Amino acid sequence: MATILITGCAGFIGSHTAERLIAGGHRVVGIDNFRTGRAENLRALARHPNFSFHENDITVEGAMDNLAVAARPDAIIHLAALVSVPESFADPATNWRLNFDATRIVADCAERYGVKRVVFASSAAVYGQSSEKRVSESAITSPANPYGEAKLASEELLQRRARSAALSIRCLRYFNVYGARQDPSSPYSGVISIFAQRSANLLPVTVFGDGEQTRDFISVRDIARANEAAALDLAQGSHSLNICTGKGTSLLDLIRLFGRYYPQMAPPLNAPPRKGDVVHSVGDPTRARDLLGFQSGISLEVGLKDCLVSAAPIESHSSLR
Ligand code: UD1
Repeated sequence: MATILITGCAGFIGSHTAERLIAGGHRVVGIDNFRTGRAENLRALARHPNFSFHENDITVEGAMDNLAVAARPDAIIHLAALVSVPESFADPATNWRLNFDATRIVADCAERYGVKRVVFASSAAVYGQSSEKRVSESAITSPANPYGEAKLASEELLQRRARSAALSIRCLRYFNVYGARQDPSSPYSGVISIFAQRSANLLPVTVFGDGEQTRDFISVRDIARANEAAALDLAQGSHSLNICTGKGTSLLDLIRLFGRYYPQMAPPLNAPPRKGDVVHSVGDPTRARDLLGFQSGISLEVGLKDCLVSAAPIESHSSLR
């Protein structure tokens, strides 16, 4: 049984990851300040004897240290973040504090208390615009927005620390994550959560740009599996790994997929492309398969149903099963 400390534990990805680890017989210590995480995401775990939760901000002095001293974790999965490209433009200072300074605090804590592994939630945004059909980890990193810049700077900081301390780092470059519990309520929310909620309510969705942009959409259930594999991976060394499916879907194709479930869906509205938006983002999953034994297993057609069930008006749930 391993003990894993998860930052951002009450978030969309954090709660799925915690559930997966607990189901595997591990002990999870979670921390979240509820900036975007929600207590109800942890409802299934609340009374589990192997789960403990601390409401606190990881950037508060001593917060991480106290947890590390008490729990002696084998690994930290660092998920606490500001998770939005547009929000990183709107509030660059908070983006830097949450997506870079917080990583330094996690790295300091790991070093100070001899934590062996840190798994970091990085992003496809580190690549920026790429001409490769499927971008691999050896591609040039050139972020197109402050969100990607902070994620890349965090990766570099962690890799530097790994060279000078007995610390293994796994920077997991998540592509576009979707699934149950993703919050659709903000303009900064992920596209699938917004589309699911709007189409369930028969409201038109808005497409920024021509809709031909592609994304590599990966289910949060696959992401939880990748996080688990990385946190329990005893191999030495440090890597950056794409966590993706290798399959691109355009926004127009995504809308067609939603149309299968909601044939009466209103036609989409069009708006200009968003600042800092990448046109194509599809990952090469080979390195994660070779080094972590991770392969995605949930197709978009199957994974989408998780979001539709949580977004749909109650009376239509039965038609989605
Ligand atoms: C980016 C990162 C991703 C990261 C995410 C965090 C890239 C390539 N990907 O995702 O790894 O996890 O930030 O937020 O940088 N869109 C619409 N209508 C909407 C909402 C969005 O057309 O109502 C479009 C966006 O303009 C974009 C696409 O849908 O082209 C996906 O947007 P979004 O879900 O916000 O994620 P990314 O910015 O691609």
